[in-house]
Amino acid sequence: MTAVVLTGAGVSAESGVPTFRGNDGLWSQFSPEELASVDAFLANPDLVLRWYAWRRELIAKVLPNPAHHALVALENFFSRFTLVTQNVDGLHQAAGSKNVLELHGNIFRNKCHRCGEQCSTQTDDTIHFCRCGGAIRPDVVWFGEMLPEKTFEIAVRHTRKADIFLVIGTSGLVYPAASLPSLARESGALLVEINPEKTDISRSADYYLQGKAGELLPTLVRCLQQGVFTEFTSKT
Ligand code: OAD
Repeated sequence: MTAVVLTGAGVSAESGVPTFRGNDGLWSQFSPEELASVDAFLANPDLVLRWYAWRRELIAKVLPNPAHHALVALENFFSRFTLVTQNVDGLHQAAGSKNVLELHGNIFRNKCHRCGEQCSTQTDDTIHFCRCGGAIRPDVVWFGEMLPEKTFEIAVRHTRKADIFLVIGTSGLVYPAASLPSLARESGALLVEINPEKTDISRSADYYLQGKAGELLPTLVRCLQQGVFTEFTSKT
């Protein structure tokens, strides 16, 4: 049985990490064009680095929530399991998830804007330069940038093979990550969505479970462990 999970910012909301969209989302207070694009970084690196330092500090203080822990249990439940995340906070790994594909990078890593070499965590918010002379920037995907090619390729490969595809806590508005649920459905997977709000994905989901990931996922895991959904999970 192959399970693939796609997570978004909603999974970390109950840990205290703000989501992007919605009334309290980051993009309601900040402008993505000014903070999360190459042009923004080149025009005003100090502002961009300060914003990332603030987010890094916020994330460093929070802990994985019951949704993250339930996903670790799911990884142990299914024989083949891949967790694809759009989150850059590292909370899945902090909870103990092993097979994690980070589509949008990781906020605790940096890389050179010119040569792409990854480098160790930069704790302050001032600009540093690589050996090659390029500016050091957060190793996250910004608007207008490609996803890490290999990582996305692996996510697509696993998605095509999925028997169950769970999509949790994402608005499903940012592509190409948002293309994975429909690819899973077309490839024959059972599509299950968990989100307190309906999204564009809800219509095509086989099951839309309305509620918070930190509440619904632990229940879902208990049901699976007790054999409640054997008709879905007995396929080898
Ligand atoms: P969004 O902020 O777009 O969407 C968060 C989703 O989480 C919404 O659909 C909420 O309804 C849902 N949600 C909120 N609380 C929840 C909870 N407790 N349990 C489950 N769901 C909950 O975040 P993403 O879809 O992750 O990209 O955004 C995708 C990308 O857009 C991000 O990775 C980021 C952003 O711009 C980059 O930075 C490249």
